[in-house]
Amino acid sequence: MTTDSPPQKGTFSPDRPSPARMYDYFLHGTDNFPVDRAAADQVIERLGVTLTRSVVWENRHFLVRTVRHLAAEYGVRQFIDVGAGLPSVDNTHQAAHSVDPQARVLYVDNDPIVAEHGERLLKGAGERARVLTADLREPEAILDSPVTRDLIDLSQPVGLLFIAVFHFVKPEEDPRDIMARFRERLAPGSCMALSHLSSGDSPEEEQRLMQDTYKNSPAPMIYRTPEEIGSLFDGFELLSPGLVPPGLWRPDSGRGESTKRFLSGVGRLA
Ligand SMILES: C[S@@+](CC[C@H](N)C(=O)[O-])C[C@H]1O[C@@H](n2cnc3c(N)ncnc32)[C@H](O)[C@@H]1O
Repeated sequence: MTTDSPPQKGTFSPDRPSPARMYDYFLHGTDNFPVDRAAADQVIERLGVTLTRSVVWENRHFLVRTVRHLAAEYGVRQFIDVGAGLPSVDNTHQAAHSVDPQARVLYVDNDPIVAEHGERLLKGAGERARVLTADLREPEAILDSPVTRDLIDLSQPVGLLFIAVFHFVKPEEDPRDIMARFRERLAPGSCMALSHLSSGDSPEEEQRLMQDTYKNSPAPMIYRTPEEIGSLFDGFELLSPGLVPPGLWRPDSGRGESTKRFLSGVGRLA
């Protein structure tokens, strides 16, 4: 079990709310500070506790179902989970290993706290999972890292996961170009899964509150239209059922339920 956590530039501190630690609090985790809980409580106060927790759990379950689908139905055996967050009940390597115990998983997050908790995150994963501290806005730094090269064979299909993270990329940082730089490096048969806050499905007042809450964090929150979210799948073939709220993407049973704040989808490279 290995984590790789190069020194950071001091962007993260216990005095500013961190998206990773706020998300941990939403998921009932304990790896958060008072400043994170105060910011997260503002969201809970406005959205209500049921809606807030439903939104985050829908995303988490989408992640787990997607990994299992990609492993079981599309034969994907290696995953890069970007914006992985802190350990939760079901993590990517556990979902992948439920299909193939030899599957390999690289966790990437730009908050060093994730690597700090790597030991717990990677429990039972052996050498088949690692954590890298890196930023998704620098695809080459992720794909060319020695850690990645050690674990992931880019000449073979990869499952690239961006769950609830691309809305931290600002328009001027050119999210489509970032995605293209990842896509160009993937082998045919690779898949990309993404979930993203959707302006089409979120009341305007709620969007303002969320943007306000995250404005003091190192990563402001950016809502995108369904068309903008769809354009991140350019170059991928969107698998059925297309771009839908996370709770409706291939639900395990019945019709699934959705809070409709996010849109999600999985694309595949021919
Ligand atoms: C909302 S959490 C989602 C966690 C997890 N993917 C899930 O769905 O349960 C977003 C995570 O993305 C990370 N993050 C935000 N901006 C990032 C960036 N530019 N590069 C890498 N990670 C980032 C945050 O630190 C946080 O852990």
